[in-house]
Amino acid sequence: MNLEKSKTLKVGICGYGTVGSGTLALLQGNAKEITRRTGVKIEVCRVASRSLQIDIAGVTHCGTDPFEVADDPDIDVLVETMGGFKPAYEVVEQALKNGKHVVTANKALIAERGMPLVELAEQNGVTLAYESAVAGGIPVIKALREGLAANRIDWLAGIINGTGNFILTEMMQKQREFADVLAEAQSLGYAEADPTFDVEGIDAAHKLTIMASIAFGMPLSFENTYTEGIAALTPDDIAYAKELGYHIKHLGIARIENGWVQTRVHPTLISTKQLIANVHGVGNAVLVHGHAVGSTLYNGPGAGAEATASSVVADLIDIARAKAQGLSKPLVPTLGFTKLRTDLRALTIDEIETEYYLRITAQDVVGVMANIAKDLERHGIGIDAIIQKESDGQHVPIVILTDKARESELNNAIAAIESLESVSEPVMRIRVETFGL
Ligand code: HSE
Repeated sequence: MNLEKSKTLKVGICGYGTVGSGTLALLQGNAKEITRRTGVKIEVCRVASRSLQIDIAGVTHCGTDPFEVADDPDIDVLVETMGGFKPAYEVVEQALKNGKHVVTANKALIAERGMPLVELAEQNGVTLAYESAVAGGIPVIKALREGLAANRIDWLAGIINGTGNFILTEMMQKQREFADVLAEAQSLGYAEADPTFDVEGIDAAHKLTIMASIAFGMPLSFENTYTEGIAALTPDDIAYAKELGYHIKHLGIARIENGWVQTRVHPTLISTKQLIANVHGVGNAVLVHGHAVGSTLYNGPGAGAEATASSVVADLIDIARAKAQGLSKPLVPTLGFTKLRTDLRALTIDEIETEYYLRITAQDVVGVMANIAKDLERHGIGIDAIIQKESDGQHVPIVILTDKARESELNNAIAAIESLESVSEPVMRIRVETFGL
């Protein structure tokens, strides 16, 4: 294909780690097909990376200063795959101020510091795209902002951290140790630079914050997202849950009801009969419920170089197509709405209502089960199932599934149980959820 100069989209990549290098490889490896889709040649002219020692085949300028990319008048789009806030925020801000489009994979940046960048992009009539920031290769931002645009979205729930799902899957299927699986996730390029972001749910909270904003049309509000990690889960919990017909998944859940929004990330028991409970390994999946469409499910690889690059390149293709059409402004508002709701109130975790799995380690003495049941009853918490596991001679694990309860009441009941003389360890509490699919 012979394309005139105006039909070339010039790209600069800042950050040449897993995602940056994966993006270049995909653009170069699938160049013909991409040009056939867009009518525009996407050319990576610059790469900037903190540690770049070498030239990269096919790239004219390789350097270490990302601001050179942001300030280069020849560059149409800056791809930000550096991660973190510094210098990513300033680099993106500078590029937007210079009238460049930005494609970023940086969920922390968008979730925590995104609002001024969104406003800047809109003032300057440029695109700020972030498909790759959420759920790796799954086009869930596109689904929420475009495919489901006719709907009022009531709730969404997803496995949105590949590393965490990989760890839980390996622990469940192969009884492997937590630390050993985490090390493997790091070597496979799934984990964040600081893997506590994966394990403690911060990465998932970033992604949930972004999805909630574009699902409900509200400002990004990371500070209202409740976050609980997976490090406290034991192989026993995974096994007991399975025995009861559940898998434990690390879920992000966002729900809107009567003007209240809840956004929470925590381990969750899900019936093995539900599709999302059977998404394993590095896979991510997001369930979205729209008032017109009902429940929909998006599934695919949630991390890794090629999967994430697939989303980065999809964003570049959108920009290339807009260029080919001569559009002067992005067609889709950055957060999916031209006006964001500011009247919504955030529900705290104490105020949610759900079912619970409790594991109580008690002394193996007569009457202990009855005392626990009494404490739950006193706080108005119904029991759906209760099983006493085999004693080790001194202690006995008691596993309970409760009926739906308000979390503040459940916490009061747990405090009462923990104060029983026969209960020797903190109670393990995991929320249980049921979805439409
Ligand atoms: N560390 C992230 C994950 C990478 O494991 O999901 C993709 O966002």
